[in-house]
Amino acid sequence: MNDSIHGRFIHLIPINREITMEQDIVYLDRNEHNYGPPKCVYDILKNADLTKISWYSRSFMTGSKSKLVAYFSERFGLPEKNILLGYGGEDILKQVVHCYISFDKTQKTLLVPRYSWWYYKAIADEVDGKTVTFPIYQDKDTFRFDIEGMRKVFQEEKPDMILIASPNNPTGNSLSLDELKKVIEVVDQDTVIVLDEAYAQYENADISYIKPLIEDTPNLLLVRSFSKYYGLAGLRIGYGFMGNGLEKFAQFSARYLGYNRLSEEIAIAAMEETAYYEDINRKMREDKALFAKELGAIDGFTVFKSDANFILVEIPQEITDGLKKFMNDKRLIIKFMNEDGFTHHLRISLGTQEQNRRVIDAIKEYASR
Ligand SMILES: Cc1ncc(COP(=O)(O)O)c(C=O)c1O
Repeated sequence: MNDSIHGRFIHLIPINREITMEQDIVYLDRNEHNYGPPKCVYDILKNADLTKISWYSRSFMTGSKSKLVAYFSERFGLPEKNILLGYGGEDILKQVVHCYISFDKTQKTLLVPRYSWWYYKAIADEVDGKTVTFPIYQDKDTFRFDIEGMRKVFQEEKPDMILIASPNNPTGNSLSLDELKKVIEVVDQDTVIVLDEAYAQYENADISYIKPLIEDTPNLLLVRSFSKYYGLAGLRIGYGFMGNGLEKFAQFSARYLGYNRLSEEIAIAAMEETAYYEDINRKMREDKALFAKELGAIDGFTVFKSDANFILVEIPQEITDGLKKFMNDKRLIIKFMNEDGFTHHLRISLGTQEQNRRVIDAIKEYASR
């Protein structure tokens, strides 16, 4: 404690967990987490040691990339060289696409499912990459990746990278481990496979597959996030596990001066709060069933199964505009989709149980007019 900043603390006023951003508007359009983080997160912010803010990390002196990377190394059983951090999953995805898809003598190709997060194509466009798609099809109240269709497109296009989200946004379905293994079989070793698991943990808490998968698949990058399950979207932390063949990316993504030390500490504390997050997830599962039961009973509505924290609902085209205005007037902001294949679909992020009840009641009220 020899200088001015040691031992000083910042004091923050906890936000009201039910009300985010603008008063009384309920935002359920970007798959955020409306329960708020556990108490330990507020405690860390309240008691933050300002040295963490003023100084770069000195983890490198112990041969470690950072405190959080060391934590992951322990938890997932992989060496630090296979682990990276980023400014949200978004940042890691952008980095890997820019690293391998940038125009370099020839145009590079990215392969994604036809229905997937629009952002993948956007980041490939930024570096003049070509984006091609493989089929994903509706099977009653779920979607499935067409692995055979993927094989055909793969053979025709020989893409430099394949990027699949599991669970997928906006369809909510996942790629099983067997399906992932089939994808890996199809793909040549010099094609990078990116598995975007931003929405992991809602329906599958298992992490034991990650270590063997990364060890056996040199061309695989698996991306995860603290934004969704852990409700820390504003903190902007994502992490990834990369196979040993992605050396170019290991160099590209390395950070000489480290990461956000406060965010790292919060992330570790949040990950230790298993019971808090399991309880929220239990409520979310109950609410997914509630959406399926109540909205699924309305004529012309299909509620799709979801392994994530949002649900996709197909509604009659003719009510789309009216319902949008009705929901906005009620200050319940859900996503009215307007993209390939989804022109009369809602993507509703799960809120608190009280918020979800209000959304269901409002939609039922409009539909019964
Ligand atoms: C499929 C998918 N991947 C990744 C992300 C990135 O999230 P973040 O950058 O907050 O980790 C999102 C955000 O909505 C997403 O929908």
